Amino acid sequence: MSFGLGLIGCGVIGTVHAQTARRAGVQLVGAWDVIPDRAAAIANEFGGIAAPSIDALLAMKGIDAVAIAVPNHRHCACACRALQAGKYVLLEKPMALNSAQCDEILAAAQSSKGLLQLGFVCRGSPTARVAKKWIDAGRFGEIYHIKARLHRRRGIPGLGGWFTTKSQSGGGPLIDLGVHVLDLALHLAGHPKVERVSGTTWSKFGNPISDYRFTSMWAGPPKFDGVFDVEDGATALIRCAGGLTIELNVTWAANIQEDSTQDGISIWGTRAGAFFAVLGDEVAIATEEAGMLVNISPEFDATNPTEQAWDEQYRHFIEMVTQRKTPFATGAQGRSLQSVIDAIYLSAELNQEVEVK
Ligand SMILES: NC(=O)c1ccc[n+]([C@@H]2O[C@H](COP(=O)([O-])OP(=O)(O)OC[C@H]3O[C@@H](n4cnc5c(N)ncnc54)[C@H](O)[C@@H]3O)[C@@H](O)[C@H]2O)c1
Repeated sequence: MSFGLGLIGCGVIGTVHAQTARRAGVQLVGAWDVIPDRAAAIANEFGGIAAPSIDALLAMKGIDAVAIAVPNHRHCACACRALQAGKYVLLEKPMALNSAQCDEILAAAQSSKGLLQLGFVCRGSPTARVAKKWIDAGRFGEIYHIKARLHRRRGIPGLGGWFTTKSQSGGGPLIDLGVHVLDLALHLAGHPKVERVSGTTWSKFGNPISDYRFTSMWAGPPKFDGVFDVEDGATALIRCAGGLTIELNVTWAANIQEDSTQDGISIWGTRAGAFFAVLGDEVAIATEEAGMLVNISPEFDATNPTEQAWDEQYRHFIEMVTQRKTPFATGAQGRSLQSVIDAIYLSAELNQEVEVK
């Protein structure tokens, strides 16, 4: 059983939602973007009608669910509108700009007929699923440390636009990339309560904006006369209840060689350890067998990891809408993650460890 989808936001990731919906057999009924040509282009390529407003989209017959892929400062308003209209919602990451906005979304979800899933798509990657299976089978023993890293060398997105304007994005790579790998680390660890964080942020490449040199530009074109008031790198030590520590390191720009970093997730457990790239083709496990330390690479289908991750996200989205199954990534998990991100920014500002509320 399938359902009718509305798309809110038809930029780079909105297009990926439309592509994934098509692969999943979900019918795109309507699309809305503040730039009408973008909604028209999506409708033209993927079907459905370009709506003249968000209210028109939400009122369209046959739309049971919406995918929201607008800039971060529009997440709260769009998600609340859609939930109040009784829609099932797949909301892109990060959940919102801050914890207070997440609470508004949770309140709207509470009184909605619909349900809310968050776009933590990395959970669906083939490597993440293999690692999670090993963890759930107890094969890592006690997991006491996780490193979560995602680095771009010169990858500031949408320079000068909403991505690099704090009031619209909520921050730089910490809220943009950090939410992906930190969510994955917490998901793998079974969502322990985060108690304290110590974080630092840097802004070394985007300021002054006119000096930034790059080879590619996500969500471009760049605006060299625009705003850059966010960090371009961040690191944090995250302490969880029960003793687990997570080391987070994310950059939009840094002087690092390609392949010089272990970009991905390292899991250290008492019975096994592992490293995998989120969209990689190997989960490299070290464990003991018959008293010897051995390396293991479990076999799995690693073709098109990005597509697989998106397809897995949509498999859960479809089950949420058609069977009211618990979403893949819940609003409560998004809210907890946001409180960690908020605390890391506060810790960086105060230059000291802070408690996570
Ligand atoms: N899941 C992932 O891997 C992933 C990757 C990149 C971005 N994202 C998230 O997706 C969202 C969109 O990012 P993007 O890279 O596609 O940005 P983008 O700038 O390419 O697209 C955003 C689109 O939203 C439109 N828009 C702005 N305000 C709107 C509103 N009020 N109503 C309707 N449309 C509106 C813009 O015109 C634009 O077309 C962000 O929240 C971002 O964090 C997720």
